[in-house]
Amino acid sequence: MCGIVGYIGSEEAAPILLRGLQKLEYRGYDSAGIAVWGKTGLMVRKSKGALKQLEEKIGPDLRDGALAGTMGIGHTRWATHGEPSDINSHPHTDVSGKIAVVHNGIIENHARLRTWLKEQGFKFRSDTDTEVAAHLIDFYYKGDLLQAVMAALKKLEGSYALGIICEAEPDRIIAVRKESPLVVGAGRGGNLIASDVPALLEHTREVYYLGDREIAVLYRNRIDFYNEDGEALSKKTSHVDWDAAAAEKGGYEHFMLKEIYEQPKALTDTLRARISAGEQAARIINLEEIGFDSSWAAARRVVITACGTAWHAGVIGKYAFEHFARIPVAVDVASEFRYRNPILDPQDIFIIISQSGETADTLAAMRLARKTGGRIIAITNVVGSTLAREADLVMYTWAGPEIAVASTKAFTTQLMCLYLIALQFGLLRKTIGPEELAAALRALEKIPAQAEAVLANQEKIQRFASLQFNKNKAFFMGRLFDYAVSLESALKLKEISYTHSEAFAAGELKHGPIALVDGSTLVTAICTQEALFDKMDSNIKEVKARGAGALVITWEDTDYFNETADEIFRIPRTLDSLSPMLSVIPSQLYAYYCSVLRGLDPDKPRNLAKSVTVE
Ligand code: AGP
Repeated sequence: MCGIVGYIGSEEAAPILLRGLQKLEYRGYDSAGIAVWGKTGLMVRKSKGALKQLEEKIGPDLRDGALAGTMGIGHTRWATHGEPSDINSHPHTDVSGKIAVVHNGIIENHARLRTWLKEQGFKFRSDTDTEVAAHLIDFYYKGDLLQAVMAALKKLEGSYALGIICEAEPDRIIAVRKESPLVVGAGRGGNLIASDVPALLEHTREVYYLGDREIAVLYRNRIDFYNEDGEALSKKTSHVDWDAAAAEKGGYEHFMLKEIYEQPKALTDTLRARISAGEQAARIINLEEIGFDSSWAAARRVVITACGTAWHAGVIGKYAFEHFARIPVAVDVASEFRYRNPILDPQDIFIIISQSGETADTLAAMRLARKTGGRIIAITNVVGSTLAREADLVMYTWAGPEIAVASTKAFTTQLMCLYLIALQFGLLRKTIGPEELAAALRALEKIPAQAEAVLANQEKIQRFASLQFNKNKAFFMGRLFDYAVSLESALKLKEISYTHSEAFAAGELKHGPIALVDGSTLVTAICTQEALFDKMDSNIKEVKARGAGALVITWEDTDYFNETADEIFRIPRTLDSLSPMLSVIPSQLYAYYCSVLRGLDPDKPRNLAKSVTVE
């Protein structure tokens, strides 16, 4: 996720672009840049680090008028391809610096296009997927930027929102989007583009929402729209009523809710580029981008370590590896792992999971693993983080920045990565065959749309929360994958609603926890492991007999728990082994609504920090 802005009008562009980028910093903040068309042609300035660093760098240019010009584009980056650096910052240009491009999204076929463009003689400067778009547009440029962009779009796969300017065409900005957001603002003294409404509000509340593959051509005094074949479109403006703070959160009340709703897109981004296209039966997981080859699957054991929510993802990873790859897996909380003198072997493979890539205990665990000589795979959301730099292989979760302290989209995308690696291990170790792989891939590809369906049904959870939010005791229970989801569900609820919540493996109930169950307890039973439905049904009856209320989260097509549950929340059917990516969503929503109903701020829970960089 990155933020893009563009301005064309009668005022100085650079200050407008910088103010717009300030409003989009929540979308990415590891580097920033602008390109302004002015008297000396296209002037590009960029810098690694927060926007403040760019502002300091170009301060003198702004003061002495060196960046004067009334058309420009800007970008604030959340790195995906290539670590944060001056070179990898946007805008990117063609070789001669006459065409500048800012991009949000992921160009999935960038590697193939890069090879092809290099064969045509194009020289690359950065590691980004975006630079491919700049060269491609240049390749097709024959004096008409719009035609060149339309030709280039035919070659681009993946998701993108692009803002493009050309030195030879000082009267227009071209913008296009596919699966990444882009809004066009119709201002009085000029027109604008932005990834999100907050960057426009200072200038206008009249916006056009671009549809997938629609193109906007912004002039100083008009805006034209086209479809991908160049046919003119007529579009209507929408009036934005949100205040600036609400707009930053995309109209959601909190970042947490926004991030819960971003999960379908984040899951798609994390999955799609990693499954090869083509005939269903011949499809494979492509982990070459992370340098994964068959030697990895010869490991003696997989050791997973992480903290908090990332550790819960690791617990699910263990079950997934055992299920698909039949390999021994140890999973540890990093703060325990680092101090308990674990027995490790150079033949072990370590998977270290961290959204931030900066958690102190997790990094210490990785460094301990490093000493044994075993190889390390990092799963992280932050390109260039310490974890990413020190691991042997990195698999990024392409979730975009997670601002809310309570982790949601990072968790489900971590799961997506773990499933892909587990399946790849399974294939290489021949514990699953091509047919089982194909079935799993088909199921994985449905997950984003199924997550969307769970979210579409959120009102039911909201209503249920409005009846239960004052309960001070909440238990979550499940078996196998559902047990791990219970751990994550209990953590979510406790960290943002301050409800005392615990998770149990349902089979453990009788070994102690049931002593706490009474009429004031809400028990959520997560029931997606079909072979154990009868066991779960008995556990639910046991807690109900002690006066507890029971919410069941289960498949939409089963009536197994109709008689026992007080309330049922249903999720679309997938493989039992893949259920966590869907079954956790109702718990995220429940925690969110309990927090809000208790008058708390779910984005900033007391005593907690987003990234725990000290012990
Ligand atoms: C999750 O909601 C938490 N806030 C917390 O447990 C978090 O997952 C943990 O601190 C690990 O962070 P990391 O993924 O950045 O390493």
